[in-house]
Amino acid sequence: MSSLHIKDVNKHYGDYHALKEIDIKIDSGEFLVLVGPSGCGKSTLMNTIAGLDSISDGAILLGDKDVTHLSPKDRDIAMVFQSYALYPSMTVRRNIAFGLEMRKVPQAQIALEVDRVATMLQIDHLLDRKPAELSGGQRQRVAMGRALAREPKIYLFDEPLSNLDAKLRVEMRTEIKKLHQRLKTTIVYVTHDQIEAMTLADRIAVMKDGVLLQLASPEQIYNNPVNMFVAGFMGSPSMNFIRSYLRALNDGLAIELHNRDGERVSIPLPERGKDLSAWVNREVILGLRPEQIRQATVNSPAVFERHINNQLDVVEPTGADTLVVTQFNDQDVTARLDPESHPVSGRDFLFAVDVSKAVLFDPDNEDRIY
Ligand SMILES: Nc1ncnc2c1ncn2[C@@H]1O[C@H](COP(=O)(O)OP(=O)(O)O)[C@@H](O)[C@H]1O
Ligand SMILES: [Mg+2]
Repeated sequence: MSSLHIKDVNKHYGDYHALKEIDIKIDSGEFLVLVGPSGCGKSTLMNTIAGLDSISDGAILLGDKDVTHLSPKDRDIAMVFQSYALYPSMTVRRNIAFGLEMRKVPQAQIALEVDRVATMLQIDHLLDRKPAELSGGQRQRVAMGRALAREPKIYLFDEPLSNLDAKLRVEMRTEIKKLHQRLKTTIVYVTHDQIEAMTLADRIAVMKDGVLLQLASPEQIYNNPVNMFVAGFMGSPSMNFIRSYLRALNDGLAIELHNRDGERVSIPLPERGKDLSAWVNREVILGLRPEQIRQATVNSPAVFERHINNQLDVVEPTGADTLVVTQFNDQDVTARLDPESHPVSGRDFLFAVDVSKAVLFDPDNEDRIY
């Protein structure tokens, strides 16, 4: 097990600046998840950690050791990448065992190890097949088994579950989490699945256009995003972004919303020690998660909550919750409701809008201001 320091790393492909001053310190035993849109540089970063790609400047440190100029095989990193290569002429068993054989691990121990990972990955019935006789998802699990049969300094996973069907994906996610809890290995894991990111990560790194935007716990990324991009990237359905006016109210501030009939409410915002006086009577972007817009109960609203009636445009039952679309400030807004509230499209519904965890953004640069 080892810590990893990606130190001020830049990567250029000709004129293209693929990684811009990336600096991430990963503790020994930490599970770091890297997320970001396609093409933002996630795989490039993984390849530079593994040594498959050189960096333009900066350093890669494994523990105290600078491995920047070491070849991949000398870095003691195990990886499962999007494009994994199995040895086509070898059986699944030998594909998994190969790395251990190269390290001269005794045969009896190899057999135990292969059985262990094969059972875990549900490929024990496939051990005598060749890769050509496997489905894409099965091959992916073999590639994972090969990585897991070792105990390297760190594991790198680049979208390892992307070829699996939904059910197996969820099972494998749980297996990976258990594996990490048991072995306390250092893991860097790329995914575009935000549930995977939220459930697996000790910390999440959000990247965009080769830049690290935020590095924080899942809870921080979800509740305290640094800008609209991070806020919109995590969470499904996405955070609602509603252009609204900020008003002065009593000693504090309030956010103003109106329904489709033009009926207005001013909802007081909690004091968070931020000076927003320059923003009073200006337009800001209110960030509200779908679960912060609920069904109003008969009780009077809480301190940072107001009730407002609005017509429902779309009702989408998903099982555990029902999503509804309505309009506040003439913009579509999604709310996550209890199915027991029986919303009906075209009808009016009494919402409770809760701004106790709301965030505000600057409409020009999209940075968070509150
Ligand atoms: N070998 C390469 N030569 C030139 N450009 C590359 C190369 N590899 C990746 N890129 C570019 O770098 C950017 C980041 O790619 P990548 O790291 O694969 O993104 P991600 O994994 O986040 O989807 C993309 O714009 C891609 O086209
Ligand atoms: Mg990639």
